[in-house]
Amino acid sequence: MTNENPELKPSEITKDTKNTVLKNADIFEEPRVCVSDERRIKSFVLREGRLTTGQEKALREHWSTYGIEYTGELLDFSKIFGNTNPVTVEIGFGMGQSLVEMAKNCPNINFLGIEVHTPGVGACISSLVEQGVTNLRVMHHDAVEVFKNCIPLESVSTLQLFFPDPWHKARHHKRRIVKPEFLDLIIPHLCIGGKIHMATDWQNYAEEMLEILSNDSRISNTSQDNTYVPRPEFRPLTKFEKRGNNLGHGVWDLIFTKN
Ligand SMILES: C[S@@+](CC[C@H](N)C(=O)[O-])C[C@H]1O[C@@H](n2cnc3c(N)ncnc32)[C@H](O)[C@@H]1O
Repeated sequence: MTNENPELKPSEITKDTKNTVLKNADIFEEPRVCVSDERRIKSFVLREGRLTTGQEKALREHWSTYGIEYTGELLDFSKIFGNTNPVTVEIGFGMGQSLVEMAKNCPNINFLGIEVHTPGVGACISSLVEQGVTNLRVMHHDAVEVFKNCIPLESVSTLQLFFPDPWHKARHHKRRIVKPEFLDLIIPHLCIGGKIHMATDWQNYAEEMLEILSNDSRISNTSQDNTYVPRPEFRPLTKFEKRGNNLGHGVWDLIFTKN
């Protein structure tokens, strides 16, 4: 087994594939991010930093309440949340601050965040506990696998994808998560009238998103001129958006609905 990630000690590597290096966080008995479909090009490469004490504590003490184990089985949202409120799913919430803020602002919506980065999952649980948010659950897994195997058809009212990894070098564009196949994966899981909300600070990724979304006849653009929508106030500023702002990047929001 080779160590392609210099941040990991050999003892921390639990599995190594062409695409993904997995770290086994001490608190977990098994690698949490499995790669059952190893030939697929992943939208992420894990470079796990160490967990802070707070993140480790949040995972140890609160994972059983707010974390949903990936089992490959279908989820039952009404059982998980104890109600039948609409469900918003966010892919790649990073450290989770904006997702926690959104969940706090919308108590009548259930939120499911999916993230592969262990410190991010710990940070998200830590802040949701701190802020007393109860309508948010998290999964620590590849969202593509989660959508393939766990999300019931027509069960999601909004899918959020904010500032996905831009993979800005042309030779890495194949890793970008937004592709026609990604829409094939998620659209069947959206309710009729359900929304896809994406945002990015990379103009050429925004253009690519717009082209891919516009070419799909199962969804319609909510933008008046069939391009981007103004940045909605209900979307809290995310960590990567802040970073983009500091670099002088623009921000492009896209909201499409399922026909
Ligand atoms: C550039 S960061 C943006 C984080 C956050 N949305 C923000 O705006 O600050 C993209 C995140 O997506 C996560 N990610 C990428 N592909 C993923 C996948 N297939 N499943 C779950 N998380 C993924 C990465 O781990 C990373 O934390």
